[in-house]
Amino acid sequence: MMSFGERFRITIFGSSHGPEVGVTIEGIPAGTRIDPERIQADLDRRRPVGRRLATRRQEEDRLVLDSGVTQGQADGAPLRAHVTNEDVRREPYDRLKETPRPGHADYPARVRYGTGADLSGGGIFSGRMTVGLVIAGSVAKTLLAARGIDVVGYTRSIGTVDAEIPPGADVPQLRERSRTNEVGTPDPVASSRMEEAIAEARRDGDSLGGIVEVRIDHVPVGLGEPFFDSLESTIAHVLFSVPAVKAVEFGAGFAAARMRGSEHNDPFVWVGSEVRTVTNHAGGILGGLATGMPIVVRVAVKPTSSIARPQQTVNLTTRSAETLVVTGRHDPCIVPRAVVVLEAVAAIAIADLALRGGYV
Ligand SMILES: Cc1cc2nc3c(=O)[nH]c(=O)nc-3n(C[C@H](O)[C@H](O)[C@H](O)COP(=O)(O)O)c2cc1C
Repeated sequence: MMSFGERFRITIFGSSHGPEVGVTIEGIPAGTRIDPERIQADLDRRRPVGRRLATRRQEEDRLVLDSGVTQGQADGAPLRAHVTNEDVRREPYDRLKETPRPGHADYPARVRYGTGADLSGGGIFSGRMTVGLVIAGSVAKTLLAARGIDVVGYTRSIGTVDAEIPPGADVPQLRERSRTNEVGTPDPVASSRMEEAIAEARRDGDSLGGIVEVRIDHVPVGLGEPFFDSLESTIAHVLFSVPAVKAVEFGAGFAAARMRGSEHNDPFVWVGSEVRTVTNHAGGILGGLATGMPIVVRVAVKPTSSIARPQQTVNLTTRSAETLVVTGRHDPCIVPRAVVVLEAVAAIAIADLALRGGYV
């Protein structure tokens, strides 16, 4: 399905090497301010251009608002927005129909959709499809900001280089710090080591993965729907939809499995007139509902599958073994570009639940 959400409903369209990529959003409350410059700023965070470390695909990604906006505000009609695909080179991908890239979607997509499928640039499996997510995420963040809900994504690790997250930092501080470097981390010391690690992987004809953390502050207590549409299920659903995401954990996550209850339970305290918890192993969620503490979710992004080194694959027509050398333009590490995408989808999930629960 190319759609997500019940009340804030998005449908992404296009493909990597088609004429355009974009999104249609239904359910934006009429009167919501739509600021094209803010959306463009988010799109610019996703673009590789200007990034020393990224793919050499050069695209402007200029936002075009097609409908649903009147005098700078959502007008109640579906909002349609797109960017044009400019830097399209089909040729490097033709061979992948016969010799699928290890680690990419080529093989199952060819079996599922046949040889007619447009796999140029990864087709609908391309990271380029995330343009529409970033546009919708930007609108969702505006909607949430009106209720004081603040969302930020940042890089926690790249390869084996871990960032120190400043204890006590709030979302605006994390946002400001992580915008000062190309890898999108709030740790300035780790940022240069991360950049070096990516450059080294590129020199080796290889790639790196990493972990992105998304933090959402000031979520109203109780937000979330029962059982299957719990906060965790809804956020995880959209995070796992993003290409290259392989694992998601909330709060203490997998580490919770090794703790005792006495250690894992977050003690409650009164802070003024608010109930808070001393620790936040729950990641801001109990029973699928917001506790009012920051929602903290970490996302593992795998190393880019399209690497320059020769790789072992098969020829699906001749039924023989082959060695594949992937051409085309690929990031040695997509983590820095995935930050804004993962931030966007988390905002989309919260916006949908906020509308369903009547919080916005
Ligand atoms: C922003 C973004 C950019 C991406 N760029 C590339 C790329 O340049 N090369 C590549 O092989 N994969 C890239 N990917 C990942 C692939 O789209 C993904 O690995 C592939 O579709 C297979 O899906 P899966 O990894 O979720 O199983 C990118 C993903 C994102 C989110």
